[in-house]
Amino acid sequence: MQNKNKKAKRNFRKRLTGVRFKFVGLTTALVVVLLALLNSYPVQSSRDMVFSEKQTAMTNQAGTAASSLASLDHLSRESIAEVLNLLELDNYERVLVTNEKGRVLYDSAAEENQTGQQPEIKAIARAMEGKTSFYSRFTSEAFFSHVAVPILRDAKVIGAVYLDEKDEEQAGIITGIQSRIRTISAFICILALLADILMTSLLTKRIVTLAEMTKKVAEGDYSQRFLTQGEDEVAELGREFNRLTQRLETTEKQRRQFVSDASHELKTPIAAITLLADSIVQNENMDEETIREFVTDIVHESNRLQKMTEELLDLSRMDDGNIGKSVPVNMTKVTEEAVALLKPLSSEQNVEIKLDLEPDSIVLATENDLYHVVFNLVENAIKYNVPEGKVTVTLRTAGDRIRMEVEDTGIGIPENERESIFHRFYRVDKARSREAGGSGLGLSIAHDAVLQHRGTIEVEEVEPQGTRFIVTLPKGPPCTATKETIVEGFFNG
Ligand SMILES: Nc1ncnc2c1ncn2[C@@H]1O[C@H](COP(=O)(O)OP(=O)(O)OP(=O)(O)O)[C@@H](O)[C@H]1O
Ligand SMILES: [Mg+2]
Repeated sequence: MQNKNKKAKRNFRKRLTGVRFKFVGLTTALVVVLLALLNSYPVQSSRDMVFSEKQTAMTNQAGTAASSLASLDHLSRESIAEVLNLLELDNYERVLVTNEKGRVLYDSAAEENQTGQQPEIKAIARAMEGKTSFYSRFTSEAFFSHVAVPILRDAKVIGAVYLDEKDEEQAGIITGIQSRIRTISAFICILALLADILMTSLLTKRIVTLAEMTKKVAEGDYSQRFLTQGEDEVAELGREFNRLTQRLETTEKQRRQFVSDASHELKTPIAAITLLADSIVQNENMDEETIREFVTDIVHESNRLQKMTEELLDLSRMDDGNIGKSVPVNMTKVTEEAVALLKPLSSEQNVEIKLDLEPDSIVLATENDLYHVVFNLVENAIKYNVPEGKVTVTLRTAGDRIRMEVEDTGIGIPENERESIFHRFYRVDKARSREAGGSGLGLSIAHDAVLQHRGTIEVEEVEPQGTRFIVTLPKGPPCTATKETIVEGFFNG
């Protein structure tokens, strides 16, 4: 089992590492593409700029040379050298002048006793045909460029001028820029990669922790809490996770408590019934009166069991949010009905009930829930009263709410227990409550029902002795159309 867990954990980590590599790979690829663009674009455009500058300058100079040479009567080595000297073409590697047949009349390399750059024959041949051609090539060493223009006299080609240049200076500048951009790019690339790795490892580490915790929660360990730092999305996720586990923990604790309380409460009457029934079976000579007494006790305990299961079902219905839609209900009528049913109990306990009800008080609730609330409050006021005691029930409109007060002159509830009486199975005096047939569920049902119908329930002490429960519920629209008014209206036309 543990091996299986470890294997699953490793697989999960592997998947996250995969995600990490994918993320780092993608961002690095993006950075590399961007830097490649940054590397090629400025170099390419400055190279193009140099090319076009060279084309203009060299074509112009070759053109000037060609027109100066065209004005000579006769093209000879000496006359050509004289003209070219005036034009100051010293920056060229090689200057060639040919006649109309392509024979070299002047060669600057031969003048200086050097071999020089091999001339481009094709360019000279094109010049022979009357066309100008320019070519330039960039290497890390230099810009190699040449131009060939025809020498025209009376629109006739009488020769060609060929200029060849090797420019190391401009090439040096561009190569310098290129290498600087490359160094900066490599630096940015390394920085981006490091930042990427750091960020993703921080992020995935927190996600792995959170995922491992979620797994433990799924296995039932709700004590897991994520250490949240910062304000980012993972921290927010962590905070939500903590809220969830906190809630799960509380709910689980309540559930366990409820199950243990419920089984304990159910156990007592079942044990009593078993014991009483067993005594009857075991004791063959038991007299009829004792048997009747035992069976009466069995019936009493069965009634308790039945009441408790009904209350538990009510609570479970409310826990499921299975509460009826709030409709206008006549609270005055419901109160009168509940009190009427409790009359025998009040007579038995010698407790007087006084009603002070505003007629036709309409609230928004369901009749069933409202009945449970009123019945339990009045029943408690009778049960936990003293002989000759009093119970007063009042019903009044208070703004947009209806306010009901159930006041008694009974034993009262100590201040430190007033909060707890709405908890399930809570009883101040267990023995007295059990004797009165209670299980400590009535007030928690009343509390849940009132809250679900957007009401409030409070408890306070009454001087010199007793307790007052105050319930408020949203006021409903007046129910004018009763059965009687409809019938009356029909006969009156
Ligand atoms: N009017 C009251 N005066 C004094 N104590 C009260 C009063 N109402 C409730 N209590 C105390 O609060 C406890 C909880 O009341 P609740 O109605 O939930 O349970 P119960 O009456 O014991 O049982 P059940 O209502 O389920 O039959 C009671 O056991 C009792 O100790
Ligand atoms: Mg009760």
